[in-house]
Amino acid sequence: EQQVYQAGLTSHKPPFTFQSTEWEGKAHEVLDSNSWGYVHGNAGTSGTYNNNLESFKRYALCPSRLVPSRKDTIGNELYPDTSVEVLGQKLPFPMAIAPIGVQKIFHPEGEVAATKAAAETGIPYILSTASSTSIEDVAAANDSGARPSAPAPVRWYQLYWPSREHDDITLSLLKRAQDSGYKALFVTLDTYVLGWRPSDMDHGYNPFIHPDRIGVEIGFTDPVFQRRFKEKHGHDISRGYLDEYGITKGATFGDAAKEWTQIVFPGHSHTWEDVKFLQQHWDGPIVLKGIQTVADARKAAELGLAGIVVSNHGGRQQDGAIASLTMLPHIVDAVGDKLDIFFDSGIRCGSDIIKALALGAKCVLVGRPYAYGLAIGGQDGVKHVLNSLMGDTIMNMHLGGLRGLSELQRDILVKDNTM
Ligand code: FNR
Repeated sequence: EQQVYQAGLTSHKPPFTFQSTEWEGKAHEVLDSNSWGYVHGNAGTSGTYNNNLESFKRYALCPSRLVPSRKDTIGNELYPDTSVEVLGQKLPFPMAIAPIGVQKIFHPEGEVAATKAAAETGIPYILSTASSTSIEDVAAANDSGARPSAPAPVRWYQLYWPSREHDDITLSLLKRAQDSGYKALFVTLDTYVLGWRPSDMDHGYNPFIHPDRIGVEIGFTDPVFQRRFKEKHGHDISRGYLDEYGITKGATFGDAAKEWTQIVFPGHSHTWEDVKFLQQHWDGPIVLKGIQTVADARKAAELGLAGIVVSNHGGRQQDGAIASLTMLPHIVDAVGDKLDIFFDSGIRCGSDIIKALALGAKCVLVGRPYAYGLAIGGQDGVKHVLNSLMGDTIMNMHLGGLRGLSELQRDILVKDNTM
């Protein structure tokens, strides 16, 4: 199947279009207005979001001709080599699933469908703290999704970091993630409060407190949060706390969702000093997500972190912020030899991936495109999006005379000021 995608074969009947520019419109057709507003919505005027997409067009790929293809030991022609080692783990392709919250609002199987598709295609899955499925259930689904005889699937955990008075909850989340086989910790730094998002505000919509009772399951299944809730309200977190007459009473599911949301989006930031607390309590690589300046990248390197994600959260947090791709080469020049640099915000097709890698990213995260795939077609939809992005990248490298990731250097790009 992978070969079908890599070879761009026309005989393969896809679950939906290969045309990546149409995935967004297809998702719009199937989602209700609240969910669509949440996934598609941005901060403020969408200025940063638009900049993210535009910034890729400012670079053009320059192909080389008459480059002999890669061959294996017995002379078979091979497609370009895309394998890479990231955070000490070997990956078949330099792409991971970006953390996206409450995935059940896109599809009833939510994170389970997405993580299985990731495992099936060999792509690491990063689980969000705002997940509508528990840490443990996602781990089990991720394991069950891997193809027989394929290497064990790779999963990482993204922390929305509770403020320091909730360290007990932070420690509980880290322990659960560690016990469930999440090998790296991604700490998101740009979302201590949700951005100014007109689409959600117009709808009066909070995706974490959903009318259909989809919730932040990670919170509801957390033993420390459960205990705290019970002490405060006198009963367990309940999806329908009914009195003897069948009337919903007291603190319910909705209250639990609100309380959990207040813990993970408490409205104020941590300090660089606080990062040491996570380093003391996480046994494995830590990656800071949301880095946008050279100075912050340097601080991350000085603290000995394993990686950073150069990201502006897909333009959903601070409007008017610089396009993530524009900052990438500056950050790579400063710390590229000291830690693994991930990139996200605006990846939509194979050539975008090549451009980010050529500018020095080690691995990209893909955000909205897979959420659209999930909305359109569940597990198969995510799989189709991931396979399409990989196939498009590999074909594009092949046509550019690029035989492996090491050949993705800045000299394959020209800044095209005509666009
Ligand atoms: C996100 N993102 C995000 N990031 C994070 O660290 N934790 C999260 O829970 C979420 N949730 C989330 C929900 C939705 C609907 C979107 C679109 C995004 C940000 C995400 O990880 C990533 O940084 C961006 O999506 C990358 O930009 P693109 O690929 O969407 O342009």
